[in-house]
Amino acid sequence: MSSLQDLPLWVSEAKKSIESASTLEELKSARITHSGDKSPIALASRALGSMASDERASVGKVIGDAKSAVAQMIAERTQVLEDQRDARVLLEEVVDITLPATRSHRGGLHPITILKNEINDFFIAQGYSVAEGPELEAEWLNFDALNIPADHPARTMQDTFFVEPLEAHLVLRTHTSPVQIRTMLENQPPIYVICPGRTFRADELDATHTPVFHQVEGLVVDRGITMAHLKGTLDLFARKMFGEEAKTRLRPSFFPFTEPSAEVDVFFNGRWIEWGGCGMVNTKVLAACGIDSDEFSGFAFGMGLERTLMVRHGITDMHDIVEGDLRFSRAFGIGL
Ligand code: DAH
Repeated sequence: MSSLQDLPLWVSEAKKSIESASTLEELKSARITHSGDKSPIALASRALGSMASDERASVGKVIGDAKSAVAQMIAERTQVLEDQRDARVLLEEVVDITLPATRSHRGGLHPITILKNEINDFFIAQGYSVAEGPELEAEWLNFDALNIPADHPARTMQDTFFVEPLEAHLVLRTHTSPVQIRTMLENQPPIYVICPGRTFRADELDATHTPVFHQVEGLVVDRGITMAHLKGTLDLFARKMFGEEAKTRLRPSFFPFTEPSAEVDVFFNGRWIEWGGCGMVNTKVLAACGIDSDEFSGFAFGMGLERTLMVRHGITDMHDIVEGDLRFSRAFGIGL
């Protein structure tokens, strides 16, 4: 059993080569050399079989200790080398998230369009339909049918865009009210519609005016419609637009197409703000559309979308709404 005296030497050689293994591959070959089937320790262990049993027990323990010492060293070294490898892989595969990315922006809807959709959804949920009319409108529908007399100041070229040839009597509609007329000419009551759309007036663009703007018109014609229905509808609409605290008040006013007529103010952020116009549809207008005013009555209202958006969001400059600067629009989301 002379070779057994070399056991400490095998163990220390194993230790040396295990500790100097700098990669998992080197460690693998050290393991085969020092604890594989043909390693001195394995051979010595195999020789135990031919020993007398009393000797086998004590020698077996010495060899067993040596074996587990080597196994322990291999396990520890494996752990160290695996940790090193993992750390290296993390570094090598790191992604530099500070690099500028090529990013394509998803398109979004303009804040006015988002508001229009919000209003449509609100009224559709109450059973209204959405009606649309042309932006290039017959002068008769934009003015006369609405009981606006030929000499009304709004009908001058200072206020209205007339389109040539003038004999065609076409204007860029100055409000959405002609869609009321179109709706009543084409449909019998009961009528519950809103008419959102683009409107035009010969104004200079400044902080509060724009020659191209938007309105939403509401029209209800049915049996037994009263101003109470109008007021209730406006209050609900105001709360939808400005929050649960909002309420409306009506101030007596005049519009040729409604009688009586009122200005609508909304109470928002602690003060009354002018919001739009409204009234009971003038019986002359009902008659012009072939609706019997003994049987039916109606209410109508009209609001500016730009004004609604400006009040609600504290926008002080109309330029922000019309210029289409994405830094402004993005704050309203993409609206999809
Ligand atoms: N068409 C009016 C305007 O442009 C707004 C308006 C007022 C509409 C009263 C209505 C209404 O339907 O009843 O100033």
